[in-house]
Amino acid sequence: MTNQNFSQRNKSFRKLFLKSNITFSNNPINRLIGVQPENDKKILLKKLKDKISSISECKLKNNSNNIVFNDGNINSPIMLIGEAPGQKEDELSKPFVGEAGSLLNKMLSAINLNRKDLYITNVVNYRPPLNRKPDSNEIRRYSEFLLEHVDIIKPKIIILLGSTAMEAFFGSNLKISKERGIWKEMLIKDKTFLTMVTFHPAYLLRQNDQKKYSWIDLKNIRNKIDELKIDI
Ligand code: URA
Repeated sequence: MTNQNFSQRNKSFRKLFLKSNITFSNNPINRLIGVQPENDKKILLKKLKDKISSISECKLKNNSNNIVFNDGNINSPIMLIGEAPGQKEDELSKPFVGEAGSLLNKMLSAINLNRKDLYITNVVNYRPPLNRKPDSNEIRRYSEFLLEHVDIIKPKIIILLGSTAMEAFFGSNLKISKERGIWKEMLIKDKTFLTMVTFHPAYLLRQNDQKKYSWIDLKNIRNKIDELKIDI
């Protein structure tokens, strides 16, 4: 194409644009508006919460006052998963706000983590009657929601607090005393997540002598965060 042809073509394009409603700006277009990850996450979390709220024929839901869905930073690289809400959690609709929660906060600050920078949820989202452990059927039923939850948050590290969280991920044939402190990779919806099982703070409140193992696990978690250069 000659220079003359080229400039004529440009002129006719310009005319076309001037006739149309298209406007130009010197500012770059943000093509991600409306689909930014944080907005996406908020929408997906709301949908998941609504889905869990509409569960029917569930003894856990029937026994409780509120759904206990999450706490913390939805963009956190670290996700903590507990067992089930207790009385205080049910009252306040927030995980880990009772005695076990206070111990959890202390455990985290011992390795320089602040719970507000992490993301926290439970295997089941309703308080079981008399604070009993959720049974295997309940764990299985809620695991479907939990895996979806993990897929939305996409953390770099998942910490499973106690045997119920371990069962939700790895099935019921494992012993927590053997599995704790070991890093494992878990494939969820085509993505691999680094996970570690450790003792639940409520168990540590009853079994003071097990805290030494918990401390080993906590230091291990801190080392992994540093090794992977996770910004938190
Ligand atoms: N124990 C849990 O597993 N989760 C809570 O939210 C509180 C206590």
